[in-house]
Amino acid sequence: MTLPYYITSPIYYVNDKPHIGHAYTSLACDVMCRFKSLDGYDARFLTGTDEHGQKIEQAADKKGISPQELTDIFSLNFKELAEKMNINNHDFIRTSEARHKQGVTAFWELLEAKGAIYLDKYSGWYAIRDEAFYTDKQITTNAEGVKIAIGSGAPVEWLEEESYFFRLGDYQDRLLEFYQQNQDFIMPTSRRNEVVNFVKSGLKDLSISRTSFKWGIPVPGNDKHIMYVWIDALFNYVSALGYPDMQDARYHQFWPADLHMVGKDIVLFHAVYWPAMLMAADLPLPKRVFAHGWWTNEGQKISKSIGNVIDPLQLIEKYGLDQTRYFLMREVSFGQDGDFSHDAMLRRSNADLANDLGNLCQRSLSMLTKHCDGQILLSNVSDKDDLAILADSRDLYAKVQKHLNVQAFHLALADILQSISDANRYIDLMQPWQLRKTDMVRMQQVLSVIAEIIRVAAILLQCFMPDSANKILDILNVAPAERTFDALTNRLQDGHQINPPTIIFPRLEK
Ligand code: MSP
Repeated sequence: MTLPYYITSPIYYVNDKPHIGHAYTSLACDVMCRFKSLDGYDARFLTGTDEHGQKIEQAADKKGISPQELTDIFSLNFKELAEKMNINNHDFIRTSEARHKQGVTAFWELLEAKGAIYLDKYSGWYAIRDEAFYTDKQITTNAEGVKIAIGSGAPVEWLEEESYFFRLGDYQDRLLEFYQQNQDFIMPTSRRNEVVNFVKSGLKDLSISRTSFKWGIPVPGNDKHIMYVWIDALFNYVSALGYPDMQDARYHQFWPADLHMVGKDIVLFHAVYWPAMLMAADLPLPKRVFAHGWWTNEGQKISKSIGNVIDPLQLIEKYGLDQTRYFLMREVSFGQDGDFSHDAMLRRSNADLANDLGNLCQRSLSMLTKHCDGQILLSNVSDKDDLAILADSRDLYAKVQKHLNVQAFHLALADILQSISDANRYIDLMQPWQLRKTDMVRMQQVLSVIAEIIRVAAILLQCFMPDSANKILDILNVAPAERTFDALTNRLQDGHQINPPTIIFPRLEK
């Protein structure tokens, strides 16, 4: 039986153009999902847009259009980003869609039936920009005398209104026990510790409805109230599977999710509120929440007011799609914060892709084409260096799999590129250009060993750089059915004919 694998990205706010942060989260999901598919899973990746709330209502007002019109336009930018970044999502959910409203409404009714929701009065601080509630301790006054949230800097306002509450306070012990029993529910460990400390410090019931705006999903039975956007938003992961239609095979197949990929700023929503609500509803809990770090731009925090937002589409245009995908996944330890700089982008791309991988393909495969009619000769290798490097290449899959199962994308890429460096060292040692004068058969063997190492690397690289990896596999003339991880244990056969190489990664100039 094929095992399911369900991965989700956050659904993105539509009041903004997509930036590097959105591209990064979606890319990580895409790599993970492609990896699992190649690894034999029935993998499904959901992304989408978070369209309700006061922030969107205000943004639409400013533009003089309806919130629905605004979100219709802006959600297209996110669809476009996914296409341009070669993101292979299986579904794209918008919270303004009927299927989502049905799902969330049913979820609310279920929570209410379980006694997890009650009506009371809320008074406290609220930041529209974060769509989040803050306590007195979490706010401060800035230089201009404006009250702001300490972490995000978003302006807060005092709210006093009737509100529905979720009994979050009842779940402190159950959550702590759950984290204890599921050590890798929250990753990386630093985030896990943060969440555990947050929950240990005590949980208050959560205000989950608002009466001061209209753009959202009405509370069933009391449409003066609009659901708090985070309740609405989090449930997208389930409503996209057809819930509450229990005849829908997708729900049974894919829930609970294997991985919610999120940025560190929204880990509490996913690792505290969300599991508590699912516990209250007696629905299964997701298996992991991975919170990645944030990018800065040339050392500076990225912000609209500074005007240093990085447009992922511009990066692709300037450096190439796969170069950008590679850089984002390789440059920073996944889970840590990282810095984007044009120098680093050029350095990485030129050193790893143009020089190491590109050059290896170019010099070995063009010799094989020119001097051996493009034919592989691999069956009789017995030289100890040949056997050693082939054995390392055979071990690569297990290493990459181990890294990806804990979302260590950077380490997976480091190992794959290490095999390429090893192959470059091997070709320098064997000097096939010298062998050409003395031993043509040996030359063909050496070049075939390298072709085989490139084959393995390219199959594994498909999830990171689908286009380029497939171009390499086209050059190697590897049939499409031979590009899954099952095929890694095969080997290029004697007489297999490769195609003449073309340049895959041009050197980038400053
Ligand atoms: N709508 C909510 C998510 C609801 S999920 C049920 C939201 N949307 S968002 O558009 O503001 O953010 C989307 C993602 O972008 C988050 O995971 C966030 O961490 C990420 N990033 C925003 N800026 C970023 C960087 N500078 N660097 C990396 N990721 C960043 O939150």
